[in-house]
Order: sequence, then C-alpha cells, then structure tokens
Amino acid sequence: MAGDWHIDLSGGKPAAFAALRQGVQALLAGEPSRTANLANVTAAIQATFSWHWVGFYLVDVERDELVLGPFQGPVACTRLRRDKGVCAAAWTSLQMVNVPDVEAFPGHVACSSLTQSELVLPVVVDGEVVAVLDIDSVQPADFDAADEAGLAALVEEIETLWSSWR
Ligand code: SME
Repeated sequence: MAGDWHIDLSGGKPAAFAALRQGVQALLAGEPSRTANLANVTAAIQATFSWHWVGFYLVDVERDELVLGPFQGPVACTRLRRDKGVCAAAWTSLQMVNVPDVEAFPGHVACSSLTQSELVLPVVVDGEVVAVLDIDSVQPADFDAADEAGLAALVEEIETLWSSWR
C-alpha cells in the first residue's frame, strides 16, 4: 500500500535502489499527473533514504529560471537563477553534479544551513533539461557511486514518462 512504503536498507544500496525503482514504477503506472508523480517520487526517495531535502526544481522557460516543484523537507528557495548554484550547474551542463562539500562550491545557494553535501541530476527530455532532482544531506560527502547510479536510473524512469504527463 502506498502509505506503508518501506524499503529495507540492510541488503545494501544497489538492492535498495532496485526495490525503490520497482516501487516507483508501480506508483507511476497509469497516472498522468506530473505533479502527483513528482511528489510521490520525492516521498519514495525520502522515505527510503531519509535525506535532509529531496525535491524537484522545474525549468521555467519564460523566466529562464528554476522554480521549486514537489519536494520533501524544509522550506526551500522558490526560484534559482541560471548562473548560480548547484542546481543551475546541473541545468546548464546537462550533467549530474555531486558536491561533497557545499561550502567549497562557488555560488552554492544555501536554502538550509544544515546541508553539507548535495547531489543534483538533470531530467533531460528531447535533449532539453525540463527539471532537476536535487538531494541535500546533512552529512559531508554523503553521495557515492551507488547513489549516483541508483538515482540516475530513477531519473531515467521519469525522463521516459515525462512527455506523457500533463
Ligand atoms: N543548494 C541548491 C539550492 C536548492 S536547495 O538546496 C533546496 C543550489 O545551490 O542550487
């Protein structure tokens, strides 16, 4: 049941990510609401790994900015500029950005003073970034290769379905 979401972490991260991906596939199946789907993806990730902040920023094409989308965690910055911060770096480079120490990242936008490390993945559809998935941790250097691979696979699910959502 949706409310009883539980993924066992004792088998290691790759197994947890595989279970998370399977769970997310089931959650998204047949649901056309982008808001509902992105919201449930953030909740599923957060419920599994308990990171400080998990959320999407959506590309606002008209204003050429990122605007806050569905998220789990503390109140966050509503808009992010194209030329500043980790999310913007993932947006403009079309690459995942893994920041082990946010203080050492020039231009980092500190929405929460508790955040120590951050991982941002672009969501790319037809060659364009439509959103980024941003994850913040209170632990320094918290994101490893298993997180990168597991989250990249989740983002692929979203990229595949994105254009069918409204
Ligand atoms: N730290 C981000 C801003 C978003 S918050 O972490 C939720 C950045 O530098 O883009």
